[in-house]
Amino acid sequence: MTHDALPELPAPLAIDYDTVHVVEPAHQAALVDELQHRGTRIVAIEGDLVMAAGRAGVAAWAANSWLAPAEYGLASINEAARTLKAIQRNWHGHHLAHFRRAELIAAKLPTIRFRPLAFPAPPPTAPLGAWSLVARDRMIVSPVCSRPFADGQPLFVEDRHGPPNRAYLKLWEALILARRWPGVGQRCLDLGASPGGWTWVLAELGADVLAVDRAALAPAIAGRANVVTQAGDAFAIDIESTGPVEWVCSDLIAYPERLLALAHYWCRAAPLANVILTVKCQGTVDAGLIAAFYEIPGARLAHLSANKHELTFFRLADGGPAEAARWPAEA
Ligand SMILES: C[S@@+](CC[C@H](N)C(=O)[O-])C[C@H]1O[C@@H](n2cnc3c(N)ncnc32)[C@H](O)[C@@H]1O
Repeated sequence: MTHDALPELPAPLAIDYDTVHVVEPAHQAALVDELQHRGTRIVAIEGDLVMAAGRAGVAAWAANSWLAPAEYGLASINEAARTLKAIQRNWHGHHLAHFRRAELIAAKLPTIRFRPLAFPAPPPTAPLGAWSLVARDRMIVSPVCSRPFADGQPLFVEDRHGPPNRAYLKLWEALILARRWPGVGQRCLDLGASPGGWTWVLAELGADVLAVDRAALAPAIAGRANVVTQAGDAFAIDIESTGPVEWVCSDLIAYPERLLALAHYWCRAAPLANVILTVKCQGTVDAGLIAAFYEIPGARLAHLSANKHELTFFRLADGGPAEAARWPAEA
């Protein structure tokens, strides 16, 4: 059997950046600050893509960090598609509508069906690269990305009846990235729990939940057999009053300084627990203050697709999730 010789693939263009971060416009300033704080240089900003030089690795404010970027000149649509297919199979095209040719290239790539995840389920394991056209004749590609979802956004089979609000999606996303979730009978603390979206997630998994809030939880959640509610100040709760816990979750609305102290306390008080905590950021983000979270051993931070102007702090037993930023950055 003979094979036709494959035409040679084009050589990548020279680039002066190491990482590309996809960021929502509302968080671009915070991302730029973060990258500068990490000692990286912003080389260019093209729409929602921020190109940075210096190995900062995953950035907390990025929706997705492209970790192995390369650029190619675009001689033809066929050549671009061939180049992508030669690198790997699975690609997500980012913002293809900018250029008609991008859609034509995408049409020549294998179709990927992004099936909604039925929680709890591990994230997809197949590598998913990202590519985009940054000019009519310039393609940027990265076979390695920080998140296993298209543009970093997981799709879920949503539950429109059980939870009292949509905040449950934030905890689903955090637990999916953590690749772990509480099991039956595990003790979970949910700080700032009302009206009960997170408590609902934990209780559905069969965990025993102590839900603390000044406000009441929805009766259907508060009344569950594996949920105990406590009305009052969540900052006044300590390990002596809760007893041992395997999970500490907090979605409290409070100043980041107070949440930093809270994270320090629970990471020390429950050294083996998995800690997941929302860091609410008001207005301009203080990059120095955010950096202080990394002083907690094992700390990671990520902007989840379900997050608003806030980050999610992780301190997990296995040091993950890899999708979240840590300090110092990965080599
Ligand atoms: C974003 S909401 C939590 C939503 C919740 N995770 C859910 O899934 O339904 C923040 C909560 O923090 C509570 N909160 C703020 N400060 C508090 C404090 N010092 N002590 C207790 N609860 C507090 C508020 O009452 C509010 O219910």
